[in-house]
Amino acid sequence: MSTFEVETLPKLLMHLAVLLVSALSAAVTFALDNGEMRVPPMGWLAWERFRCDIDCAHDPKNCIRRVHPTFLSKQAYENLFIDMADRLSEDGWRELGYVYVNIDDCWSSMKRDEQGRLQADPKRFPGGIQKLARYMHDRGLKLGLYGDMGTHTCGGYPGTTLDKIDLDAQTLADWEVDMFKFDGCYSNATEQAKGYPLMSKALNATGRPIGYSCSWPAYQGGLPPKVNYTQLGEICNLWRNYGDIQDSWDSVLNIIDWFSENQAVLAPAAGPGKWNDPDMLIAGDFGLSMEQSRSQMALWAIMAAPLFMSNDLRTISSGARSILQNKMVITINQDAMGIQGRRIVKEKNDINVFWRPLSNNASALVFFSRRTDMPYRYQTTLGKLNYTAGSYMIYDVFTEKTMTLKDSTSFVVSVNPTGVVMWHVSAPAKWNFRQFYKGGRRQGSAFGNDGQNAVPPVFL
Ligand code: GLA
Repeated sequence: MSTFEVETLPKLLMHLAVLLVSALSAAVTFALDNGEMRVPPMGWLAWERFRCDIDCAHDPKNCIRRVHPTFLSKQAYENLFIDMADRLSEDGWRELGYVYVNIDDCWSSMKRDEQGRLQADPKRFPGGIQKLARYMHDRGLKLGLYGDMGTHTCGGYPGTTLDKIDLDAQTLADWEVDMFKFDGCYSNATEQAKGYPLMSKALNATGRPIGYSCSWPAYQGGLPPKVNYTQLGEICNLWRNYGDIQDSWDSVLNIIDWFSENQAVLAPAAGPGKWNDPDMLIAGDFGLSMEQSRSQMALWAIMAAPLFMSNDLRTISSGARSILQNKMVITINQDAMGIQGRRIVKEKNDINVFWRPLSNNASALVFFSRRTDMPYRYQTTLGKLNYTAGSYMIYDVFTEKTMTLKDSTSFVVSVNPTGVVMWHVSAPAKWNFRQFYKGGRRQGSAFGNDGQNAVPPVFL
């Protein structure tokens, strides 16, 4: 073998390997190729809770005090984001993955600057957006900003018309923004069909990775043939499919229903780097009970939805916080396979069962009650829920209890009205099994801590 051959063979092999890897990744990478959001993004978003409230002088309770009340009107909006960043980084949120602090509508000045660029309202954001981005980055957080494909934002601020797309994308990159929500008020279907892909290209062309959230499908009814989910997956990291969430259970239920009814179309569209967005989490606000907050969190996790809270993290109750900070729900939401779960059972008795496949042959189940009377004792088996023969380790996500179940064993879950029981299901590991049967006795049950409604023990 000549020297030439000795040297080139490994090189050739390397080239082949590189080719193979890129061919493989080309085959599996259908998402917007900016490397962003391989798992659903998590963070905080201003809109649902704080809307366009810039009037701190008259609404001191709902805007942010950081300075003496006399100066409130000047400082309020910027302080809101600084306060939320402080809470995310100091109260354990960031470590769980909640890293985005996202500004929504009403941040900008009513006029572009002399060079035609968007600019922040100088009174409410005296430091400008870049300073705020730096504040986030210094704390291991990211900043998201809002814009609108159209003449105006939904709140009436300057929008991004087709001729302004490159300029606005560059401005975002110059400001070191990490995520961009591109709303769709005040534009028609033709303009949107041009603008959303153009903005994707323009953001990529800046060289700065900027997560791209498209509201496009929500403006086109959310369904094919008007909406092309293959294209969306190629140009956006996430997209709002449906109407705005409001602070009420009716609103959450309406969203759950729409996503479930259309899951055959929606679920296949999701995957690493490309997510359906049913809108913000509202636990910690005024409209949901604890049961309902758990239901929203559980179902958003099943749907592989982005987890953007819109609440006041300075005053959030410990109950809402523990739901939003539940590690297992977050782990389920953030599963690396990124497969969106589905409703698999819709009972006449108003119990629905949702299922999501997870990495390592695990899965998640949610038993959801749409009932409004009393806790319902729902009886089934894992076999009936399509589980193959075998024994499974069950971890109840909200009661933190474990047990094992065979596919054929009948069990009962007690599901509270408008509430959920959520399980992480995996094949039992041997050491778990021994631990579980400490001293020859079964340790704990996944069920029944509520006396009258406690379910009978499950016989293994
Ligand atoms: C639309 C969007 C909301 C919010 C508002 C802001 O309604 O869907 O999420 O961004 O605009 O005006």
